[in-house]
Amino acid sequence: MSVGVLVPMLEVPPSPSTPGGSTSCADELRRSPRPSLAELKEIERLQEEAARCSLAQLAEPVLANALLKFDTNAFGQSFRDYNAHNVRYNTVMETYRLNHVNQTYDFVLRQEEKYTKLQNGSMTVWDACELLNGMVDESDPDLDEPQIEHLLQTAEAIRREFPDDEWFHLVGLIHDLGKILSHPRYGNEPQWAVVGDTFPVGCKHAPCIVHSHFFADNPDSQDERMSSEAGLYEPGCGLDKVHMSWGHDEYMYQVMKLNGCTLPPQAFFIIRYHSFYALHRENAYQHLLNDHDREMLTWLKRFNKFDLYSKSKTRVDVAELKPYYMGLINKYFPAVLKW
Ligand SMILES: [Fe+2]
Ligand SMILES: [Fe+2]
Repeated sequence: MSVGVLVPMLEVPPSPSTPGGSTSCADELRRSPRPSLAELKEIERLQEEAARCSLAQLAEPVLANALLKFDTNAFGQSFRDYNAHNVRYNTVMETYRLNHVNQTYDFVLRQEEKYTKLQNGSMTVWDACELLNGMVDESDPDLDEPQIEHLLQTAEAIRREFPDDEWFHLVGLIHDLGKILSHPRYGNEPQWAVVGDTFPVGCKHAPCIVHSHFFADNPDSQDERMSSEAGLYEPGCGLDKVHMSWGHDEYMYQVMKLNGCTLPPQAFFIIRYHSFYALHRENAYQHLLNDHDREMLTWLKRFNKFDLYSKSKTRVDVAELKPYYMGLINKYFPAVLKW
């Protein structure tokens, strides 16, 4: 099928510079006067993710621009609702603005203090999967598959490629459970404090962070102590000493740690930093890492591939898979967790 004639020229505005000279997806697409079939397929994939997945997967600026510029997708079909995607784009932009303006060092310390008390209630890991499943993500008006399917598809994709690493399968299942923070009973936090890319607070914001221009209105940007590359931290101190912007990653990490989860260190690292795109995609913040972080980063990059690319049209059979994952949950978690 010829698709080239169905699309207009791609005009992608400049994205933030990429440190270290690495090339971003947006850079590559911007260089193409007419996108190739592979690029169109990528746009189609991103568009499908936008319909299903979290704000974290909407982070790539090229997606939003592609949705605004194209009348048809790679296969000549109309987008399901062109206006809806404009609305989505505005919602995403506003959420990023709120996130970048409000995620200050002090805000993060207050959230850590509040949520590490685990006073929101008790439930099993599987109950949390089902609770998340029943929640509507404001940023996903087109959500057409239950959230539990994203969790299980991620887990099953990992299981196919790493059949012997059962801990890794469980990471796929639980990686987004921290999103219950936006549930009225478990924090009722706004989207900007739950989803989206995460970044260190207390030091200079890397320019490669998506929509980094919004940091101009973050009070920390005016604080000299936090304006250098390392800011409040010692170079090479290790990420464990660095405070990250508050969201579902840090919350789930704390829930695991404080409930005595026995998963290996790489599982904790993946859960805690899977939305830290500036690190695992752009290789920024190297000056804060220690040897342990560099070792763990290999696993984080492996995981990110599954989180982003595991979306498939193949539905998963939740009832059939449940016994396998219950076995893993029972092995690595207490029966009931405090949240
Ligand atoms: Fe996530
Ligand atoms: Fe995810």
